[in-house]
Amino acid sequence: MKNLITLLIFISCLITVAQNQLLIPTTIESTNINLTLQNGTHQFFAGENTATMGANGNVLGPTLILNNGDDLNINVTNNLGEPTTIHWHGLHISAENDGGPHTIIQPNTTWNPQFTVDNKAATYWYHPHLIDKTDEHVSNGLAGLIIIRDAEEAALDLPRTYGVDDIPLVIQTKDFDAGFQIVHPTNNDDTVMVNATVDPMVDVPAQVVRLRLLNGSSQRTFNFGFSGNLTFYQIATDGGLKESPVALTRLRLSNGERSEILVDLTGMQGQTLQLMSYASELQNGINGATFPGASTSMVLDNYNPNPLNGTDFNILQLNVIAQTANPVTTIPNSLVTITPYLESDSDFTRNFSLSSVIGGLDALNGDFTINNVSMDMNVINVTIPLGNTEIWSIQNGTPSAHPFHIHDIQFNILDVDGNPPAAYLEGWKDTILLRPGQVINVITKFDDFADETIPFMYHCHMLTHEDGGMMGQFVVVDEGAGVNDFDLENGFSLFPNPSNGVYMSAKLTDQNDRITAYAIINELGQIVNYHKIHENEMNNLYSFPVFELSTGSYMLRIFSENNIYTKRFIKK
Ligand code: C2O
Ligand code: CU
Repeated sequence: MKNLITLLIFISCLITVAQNQLLIPTTIESTNINLTLQNGTHQFFAGENTATMGANGNVLGPTLILNNGDDLNINVTNNLGEPTTIHWHGLHISAENDGGPHTIIQPNTTWNPQFTVDNKAATYWYHPHLIDKTDEHVSNGLAGLIIIRDAEEAALDLPRTYGVDDIPLVIQTKDFDAGFQIVHPTNNDDTVMVNATVDPMVDVPAQVVRLRLLNGSSQRTFNFGFSGNLTFYQIATDGGLKESPVALTRLRLSNGERSEILVDLTGMQGQTLQLMSYASELQNGINGATFPGASTSMVLDNYNPNPLNGTDFNILQLNVIAQTANPVTTIPNSLVTITPYLESDSDFTRNFSLSSVIGGLDALNGDFTINNVSMDMNVINVTIPLGNTEIWSIQNGTPSAHPFHIHDIQFNILDVDGNPPAAYLEGWKDTILLRPGQVINVITKFDDFADETIPFMYHCHMLTHEDGGMMGQFVVVDEGAGVNDFDLENGFSLFPNPSNGVYMSAKLTDQNDRITAYAIINELGQIVNYHKIHENEMNNLYSFPVFELSTGSYMLRIFSENNIYTKRFIKK
């Protein structure tokens, strides 16, 4: 008995760890936005300084509060002492403003994207996206939320007082070494934090409260729920409000995904509750479940031990305090009307297969690829005609789950393994988790932004996988732009020609033929570039980079399934 009492006291000491007041990121609510990326230190643990990266501060960045239609002028100044980029995750903007791997901000320089906010009210985020460095820069603390507002959202009776009844939550796990410094890459991410606060608690009023959830972790998936299995209501997915609130007790979010939820705390003043991850319920193969692979006999190097895997753990303590003036006290019955893309509108279906370069029981160690090819800055994997509505059929042929993210657009999920998506996946999405073996069809439209210089990305949002090459590039091309045939030979068109851009595009006249390889030949007859295209990426339309070519005249030789064509082009 005495032992039991000692044990109980010991356990209760363990669970009443010191709580820290949740940090609420500052906000910028302006069309002129200045972000300074800087190194700093932050005390995740009292008295222990950890080296960090932040925007306008030591860790994380300010929340940008934007309105649909705002004309933004942003200055991102890089004082990190090393190159990085800043990507606006989820925003529908041109490739040059997107902040992908091509748009490097060199140290001590300022990047000046300018664009009009053209997204629905929802929660988005920004983070670095430099090739091979995304995990490092995000793990070190660089990430911030973007809240977009619009007239539809404003017309609803929803909580929207930032930090009071509308709480931004950047949820992450990190790994610290014995000296309290951040470790990356890692599978030992055993420290949970919200807004860079470890063991956080926040006061929330006894009314309907809105939580904006971002899984900003490098790899871990969360299975959100509340203590006592309190029902909550999902009101927004990645890129917009739902048609009506979806009552849930669990909500799974993988890396990069967001959701807004309402929780009704009316009458609960004085109580505390926990936002948790019920990771014991995650299926094997999802990062954060008991086993990282679909089969328990698979091995992932350095995966164990990690006390968070497969267990239910607290994320944030909510202390319910008095109501505010004019509280929201009811969950709305309906939200907005969604006009989804229809399968019948699709112009084209593309296949993407996620695979591992290692087979067998070691497959979890990756590297992982998309269509068997690794990210290559010199290859445009996919070329899309401006205005195309497309189904992207994504198949996970690996034994672990991967969150697939597409830049530029928001998509609707048509089906998951042939079944309609669960209610929490309905609406606007830019990132979707595929479990081992799953096939998910999504539909979207590539509208508004064609670009001859910079591609968009699609990739796994597990940052270690992304850095490991699980990423591809797509360009959206305006086929009408600058077609100029130097040769009389028919068979394909080449545009823009001459080119002073980064890539050119070739389109076969025969709609049913596909380009399988191409070669660029200089005036001496030497092949300066040859690329064989992966089966899944073969298409009637293909773009190839010309940015490394010196100015002059070249021949492009196109190998198609049925023919070989050659045409002259000029690089200016
Ligand atoms: Cu959140 Cu391509 O990234
Ligand atoms: Cu992945």
